[in-house]
Amino acid sequence: MFYSVITCSAAVAWAPKEPLSLETVEVAPPKAGEVRIKVLATGVCHTDAYTLNGHDPEGLFPCILGHEGGGLVESVGEGVTHLSPGDHVVPLYIPQCYDCKFCKSPKTNLCGRIRSTQGAGVMPDGTSRFTCKGKSVFHFMGCSTFCEYTVVSEFSICKVDPEAPLDKVCLLGCGISTGYGAALNTADVQPGSSVAIWGLGAVGLAVAMGCRERGAARVIGVDINPDKFEAGKPFGITEFVNPKEQERPIQQVLTELTDGGLDYTFECIGNVHTMRAALESCHKGWGVSTILGVAAAGQEISTRPFQLVTGRVWKGCAFGGWKSRDAVPQLVQKYMQKKLMVDEFVTFNFPLDQINEAFKVMHEGKALRSVVNL
Ligand code: APR
Ligand code: ZN
Repeated sequence: MFYSVITCSAAVAWAPKEPLSLETVEVAPPKAGEVRIKVLATGVCHTDAYTLNGHDPEGLFPCILGHEGGGLVESVGEGVTHLSPGDHVVPLYIPQCYDCKFCKSPKTNLCGRIRSTQGAGVMPDGTSRFTCKGKSVFHFMGCSTFCEYTVVSEFSICKVDPEAPLDKVCLLGCGISTGYGAALNTADVQPGSSVAIWGLGAVGLAVAMGCRERGAARVIGVDINPDKFEAGKPFGITEFVNPKEQERPIQQVLTELTDGGLDYTFECIGNVHTMRAALESCHKGWGVSTILGVAAAGQEISTRPFQLVTGRVWKGCAFGGWKSRDAVPQLVQKYMQKKLMVDEFVTFNFPLDQINEAFKVMHEGKALRSVVNL
């Protein structure tokens, strides 16, 4: 089958720290093992801002950012059998090839199949499908959803229920699944337990949702923004501590509040100091602390080793530990059955030409998530 180049609009990141620029781009047809998607909606996430701000050592420019998307398959390359044009899909920044040693292990979701080319901002054959003003433009996280059409590897995409609203379930491509899965898969929160969550953005509130589902008895939100307690209640936050209002270190405050410490803690900020506080707030003997936040390049975590010798466990996960192609369609079903909140995470909607506004409200802390409608 012959497919032609598509000319469409995209928000291009030409250089670090510059606003995104609305451009006309050319999107080449999918090659073997690739899929071209008509993107209908995309979330805006901190990882996009992290790269745009030049903090990502892997960041390459010019590029098309965006990795929380939803759309329709427009065309498929040679050999792609699990999708056909018209399918409703969510692109996946953690692929699942079913064949590499990571995919074959039940212990991890970190498929390694296209890791090196994805990190280099190109398709698995080493080239880009995007051109703008005669220049080749890099892909981002294997998704590049800030464009009306994008091309992804067949391993980086899953088919979802065609009834599901793509301008909502696009958020299951990153933030919500990350938090929810950290509670269910990584920490495996048990009924009746006590939990503290640092950072009540979309990620932290999705953790809370998972803890409530598991029957946690206490879910304490820890945030420097006092508005976050009310905002967190619908997601399962039962108590709130603002570290700024405490005279003593937060570890001490929480240890006293919980008779020796928490069963589970989660860091959803990306700050190495709160990562330490979260570990040290765990109960001796069994407390488990899970890191979800992405710290700036070069940062390191520290604690006294005695903390681990005495039975606290430090963990971390990416994309909530979900094996992406298996899990995302099931998470969409759970949402359709009203067993998983998604709509409540959408604070703003913007058209593509106002995408810089979405970054602005995110930096101002006003948005759980903004969805850009393409
Ligand atoms: N102590 C407590 N809370 C803090 C602190 C701090 N030192 N610094 C920030 N916060 C709170 C903010 O007030 C905010 O409510 O953390 C929350 C972070 O939420 P968002 O900025 O909305 O971030 P979110 O989208 O949830 O992502 C969280 O996960 O994706 C990773 O590293 C990425 O930073 C991102 C993190
Ligand atoms: Zn794999």
